[in-house]
Amino acid sequence: MIRILDVHIDYVQSSPFEHSSAQAVRALQGVTLDINSNDYVAIVGPSGSGKSTLITGIAGLIAVSKGDIFVDRYKISRARRARQAKIRGKYFGIIFQFSEMLGRFTVEENLRFAFVASHGGMDERYASRLSYLTERLDIADLLSAYPTRLSGGQLQKTAIARALIKDAPFILADEPSGDLDPDSVLRVKRLLREEHERGKGILLVTHDSKLASDATSIFEMREGKISALLK
Ligand SMILES: Nc1ncnc2c1ncn2[C@@H]1O[C@H](COP(=O)(O)OP(=O)(O)OP(=O)(O)O)[C@@H](O)[C@H]1O
Ligand SMILES: [Mg+2]
Repeated sequence: MIRILDVHIDYVQSSPFEHSSAQAVRALQGVTLDINSNDYVAIVGPSGSGKSTLITGIAGLIAVSKGDIFVDRYKISRARRARQAKIRGKYFGIIFQFSEMLGRFTVEENLRFAFVASHGGMDERYASRLSYLTERLDIADLLSAYPTRLSGGQLQKTAIARALIKDAPFILADEPSGDLDPDSVLRVKRLLREEHERGKGILLVTHDSKLASDATSIFEMREGKISALLK
């Protein structure tokens, strides 16, 4: 399970002016939430409310100023970097709001790298996972393309495939349908629902309350706090 306990995250920016003091943006101001292995939790909220910060905090990609985040028995929020990377690799498929793929490799090679990095090598699960995600996301035509040649929406779909190829127990999805056309949004929605039915734990953060409607619980986030339970 993922256990988020009174988590605060500040972005500290040093000022370019010598005499003014550093300013902190208090992006998360005390978030507490449990996500169990087979939960489908969505968080909706306006721009700047802290949704992406929460995802990066859970993933161990940003320092927590106060509070703790546990993934099973591991305290990812206080672990060393190498340990955080291990926990992240083992537990999470992460769909980032702004993804980057390796530009010198094709989409399929990017997916293969993601699989190998998490499983320590290739095995028979890769081919079946690849064909499943290719069909569900309708990306067969894109597999041999280089990411630099793709449109924003195409890149988003291939980034979703890359996040899910390794079949990790939890999916952290940050605005996964931001750049997508309506048909693709429905595909992503159905894919998340199927992954949940297969027993994955999902945390989806989005502006899009329609995308969030399949979640079993929906929270609202405002100004760095969970402000309401909507479902
Ligand atoms: N790298 C950063 N440095 C400084 N401040 C940041 C940084 N990233 C985010 N912030 C600030 O932290 C707050 C929360 O940002 P965050 O990106 O988590 O919001 P969000 O809910 O994901 O917004 P959106 O819906 O637009 O993606 C905002 O006030 C934002 O300006
Ligand atoms: Mg965001």
